[in-house]
Amino acid sequence: MKTYLITGGAGFIGSNFIQYILKKYKDIKIINLDKLTYAGNLENLKLVEDNSYYTFIQGDICNKQLVESIFSNYDIDYVVNFAAESHVDRSILEPEVFVKTNVLGTITLLNAAKKAWELENGFKKGKKYLQVSTDEVYGSLGATGYFTETTPIDSHSPYSSSKASADLMVKAYFDTYKMPINITRCSNNYGPYQFPEKLIPLIINNCLNKKPLPVYGDGMNIRDWLYVEDHCKAIDMVINNGRLGEVYNIGGHNERTNIQIVKTIVKYIHDNVDEKVNENLIKYVEDRKGHDKRYGIDPSKIKKELGWYPETKFEDGIKMTIEWYLHNKQWMNSVTSGDYQKYYEKMYKTK
Ligand code: NAD
Ligand code: DAU
Repeated sequence: MKTYLITGGAGFIGSNFIQYILKKYKDIKIINLDKLTYAGNLENLKLVEDNSYYTFIQGDICNKQLVESIFSNYDIDYVVNFAAESHVDRSILEPEVFVKTNVLGTITLLNAAKKAWELENGFKKGKKYLQVSTDEVYGSLGATGYFTETTPIDSHSPYSSSKASADLMVKAYFDTYKMPINITRCSNNYGPYQFPEKLIPLIINNCLNKKPLPVYGDGMNIRDWLYVEDHCKAIDMVINNGRLGEVYNIGGHNERTNIQIVKTIVKYIHDNVDEKVNENLIKYVEDRKGHDKRYGIDPSKIKKELGWYPETKFEDGIKMTIEWYLHNKQWMNSVTSGDYQKYYEKMYKTK
């Protein structure tokens, strides 16, 4: 029986991942360590909270004593580090917490894992630390080409720079100590349980409330969208079969301009929910500072080595996603109570 320490498991991708592996495996144990910041929500885990193979611990990945005590109390086999401050716009407003959680938190986890797993001559067998990273560490593309695992790191925002710093520390633990690690770098995810500060759930929520739909700049920036379950599948494959020390890019060749995404959502809601929702709601606003123009992943390595491929076509995934938010209005109300309105007003008032 393998024991996973999953950090940030109450967030968007972490909660999808926990549900994915608990469905797939009958013989695993999960410890979910999450601070429950504004982005973490235990409602995301309602479907698994009574599962006897699942344990939740509220706490900070920067808390060395707490993290070490988890390694003492459980024989952890895999660490999957999702915990992070994850929103680019927030990193532009307040960069410090990104360095704390994303960089110092990562080192705290690496040190605790190293201490628990290191033998006199190498590491205990079957252990692995997986760092969940992002394509944003590679910077921005022009009109052509793709990010490969050998594309130089050239991050721009405080968020992506903190993720790049963390990646380099993880790499250092492999290069220096031969600690068993992998790094995955994925493109933009979408799907259930995504906090509505990110483009897709924000636009869905605003459509349902007939609020303006903020589009940064000219709306022509491009992101490479992947349904969250396909990301979960890739992480599972890398944990089990990824070659030690390797980086794997994850993406499904699914590029769209932001304005295409917004119009797709508007059309679906217009046709299926409320015909008063239409493109007149779109509001072009001031551009994001340092806005990366285009992301595009070359996933050949993970396809070739591990046989991964994305199963969900964007046309299906976006419908499933909109339908999920339509059927989970209570979830949306809950996560947008509290400080969400304050953030929203601060973020969008001057644009
Ligand atoms: P999220 O913001 O939805 O969730 C982050 C989770 O981490 C939350 O539950 C939060 O409470 C927790 N957390 C934050 N600080 C913590 C701390 N100090 N200690 C413990 N827990 C803490 O993020 P997400 O979108 O699910 O992203 C998860 C990971 O995947 C991140 O590392 C992100 O960089 C990476 N990633 C995200 C995407 C994407 O499109 N969302 C794409 C590629 C990679
Ligand atoms: O590429 C992977 C990254 O994708 C992850 O590492 C990040 O954690 C995740 O947040 C995401 O970053 P982006 O900045 O690409 O995602 P976001 O949803 O914030 O924005 C997507 C695009 O939409 C981006 O070009 C900015 C634009 N945008 C965003 C918002 C919130 C708008 O035009 N209007 C908006 O209101």
